Amino acid sequence: MAAEYVLDNIQLNPTDIVLDFGCGKHGGVSKSLLQHVSRIISSDVELDAVNKLNTRFKDQGLISSEAVAVLNSELESKYSDYFDLAVAGLVFHHIEDDQQFAEIQLIYRLLKPGGKLAIIDLQKQEEMNINGIDVDKLNDRVQAAGLDISVSQRWRRVKLPSKKKAYLHVIVATKPA
Ligand SMILES: C[S@@+](CC[C@H](N)C(=O)[O-])C[C@H]1O[C@@H](n2cnc3c(N)ncnc32)[C@H](O)[C@@H]1O
Repeated sequence: MAAEYVLDNIQLNPTDIVLDFGCGKHGGVSKSLLQHVSRIISSDVELDAVNKLNTRFKDQGLISSEAVAVLNSELESKYSDYFDLAVAGLVFHHIEDDQQFAEIQLIYRLLKPGGKLAIIDLQKQEEMNINGIDVDKLNDRVQAAGLDISVSQRWRRVKLPSKKKAYLHVIVATKPA
């Protein structure tokens, strides 16, 4: 879903390098965007997700200069000021409230000046018992990290595996050049 938003709404260039932050073991975002850009780095906090995705990349004949999965903890030493775009699809609602700002600051340091962050995630709805992002808090954190928000809006309604309906919210922000 996050890749669909990016493909429809964000200009990608064949030379772009993209971070799929919180890629998960299937790496759906990475796989959908790879053919449109020059390189994807997929990251996750779970070693199992990183290993499984690297196996998938290898099975598809991709070499590490095209696509590689790494642990979040490896990102900063290798990829500072490196990415044109970071995509975080359905990730931030998994991150503890008191950790979110640190993760956004990390992404800020990983982006090139002029690079963009796209967060696509479930919106919290307490009355429906839906675990999602608190949009106001996340907007504040994105801005406090130094990124300029150009989009913060509800995107679409989706059905969860629990059959509940939830809204996906999108935040797009740019690191000043
Ligand atoms: C629901 S999956 C999303 C996978 C993929 N991004 C997508 O859109 O389909 C959430 C992933 O976020 C990862 N995650 C949780 N906390 C994270 C963090 N602080 N940094 C990076 N990834 C994290 C989880 O390990 C999990 O693989």
